[in-house]
Amino acid sequence: MPADPRYYADYLQLERLLDTQQLASAERGIPAHDEMLFIVVHQAFELWFKQILWELDSVMTTMAGDQVAARDLSVAVARLRRIATIQPLLLRQLEVLETMTPLDFLDFRDDLVPASGFQSVQFRLIENRLGVDPATRLRIKGAPYHARLSASDRERAERSQQEPSLRDHVDRWLARTPFLRLGDFEFWHAYRAAVDQMLRREHDIITSNPNLDAEARAQQLADHDDTVGSFAALFDRERHADLIRRGARQLSYDSFLAALLITLYRDEPMFHLPFELLVALIDIDEGFTNWRYRHALLVQRMIGDKIGTGGTSGHVYLAKGAERHRAFGDLFALPTFCIPRSALPVLPPPVREQLGFRWERPAGSAS
Ligand code: HEM
Repeated sequence: MPADPRYYADYLQLERLLDTQQLASAERGIPAHDEMLFIVVHQAFELWFKQILWELDSVMTTMAGDQVAARDLSVAVARLRRIATIQPLLLRQLEVLETMTPLDFLDFRDDLVPASGFQSVQFRLIENRLGVDPATRLRIKGAPYHARLSASDRERAERSQQEPSLRDHVDRWLARTPFLRLGDFEFWHAYRAAVDQMLRREHDIITSNPNLDAEARAQQLADHDDTVGSFAALFDRERHADLIRRGARQLSYDSFLAALLITLYRDEPMFHLPFELLVALIDIDEGFTNWRYRHALLVQRMIGDKIGTGGTSGHVYLAKGAERHRAFGDLFALPTFCIPRSALPVLPPPVREQLGFRWERPAGSAS
């Protein structure tokens, strides 16, 4: 017997899906027109959150392995790119929601209380899977971010917080970068010499610049000292450990150096894919940071300085979170340590050979 032909609405379970937009305002007998938009936009968000988690879970399975084959890494990068491609859609959805005015919102806002996007457990799972550090999370009147979740959602959030995150997996993977020690070639020694030369040159430019008055010169020299201090931490495992303790770094020392090496020598074929991975992670971190700022603005525009239905200070809390709740901040620190290509240590031929691959012309072929 042939199976029944599949029907569009059954395959997508549209009857169930399209029956889930119930206006809370209608329960009071005064349906608010814009509540439909409010519900649809939130539901669309949750569907995209589901897709993002789906991609993240698969990437994490790949990156958790003791060995990550290049072909698996390439699939992981493609899936991370997919997440980064979804993110601008999320921003666009906020624009659609902004066609609702503050007064339209007030027609049904009280019907929501105390529900809030703050209770989106999928959003918390995304944050925790990416690696937002629980220690840096903002507290709300002393309570943790998951205090207002139901018991079962709180348990899911807690569990995901305790499991290794994508950042943990990437950290371990980076630390295994085989080219951190390049045979007899003391890369970090050569790099440090190039950096010292660059810093000395910068110092000379400040001290000899005739256009600076004493105050401006002192300020620039103080900034220069900070840069020298940052480089000192780069060459000192203990100082890096101290930065981790203070929450200023998250990746381990070896991983941070590996990420820098990949960034500096991204033109070498062996580093193409690892560099793509780092860029995808930067894009995703930036995408969520953009979303947080954008959402904070939407909230300010919609409710001004009122507190949120979830009990936070509203847009002030949200804007602070945009700065704090980031998983891959270390990757944004790497450019501090980039030096011009022309100043980079030249890799010895055997090292370049190891890092390269190419299509060989078949023996005897003319072209
Ligand atoms: C009229 C539109 C919106 C308003 C006025 C609004 C308001 C707020 C406020 C005030 C907060 C802080 C928590 C609280 O005290 O309630 C919040 C958090 C949040 N909202 Fe919205 N929101 C809106 C739309 C959305 C949409 C469309 C989403 C998509 C899912 C969303 C997701 C979230 C998330 C995930 C949080 C937690 C953010 C964090 O803790 O970092 N919100 N929202």
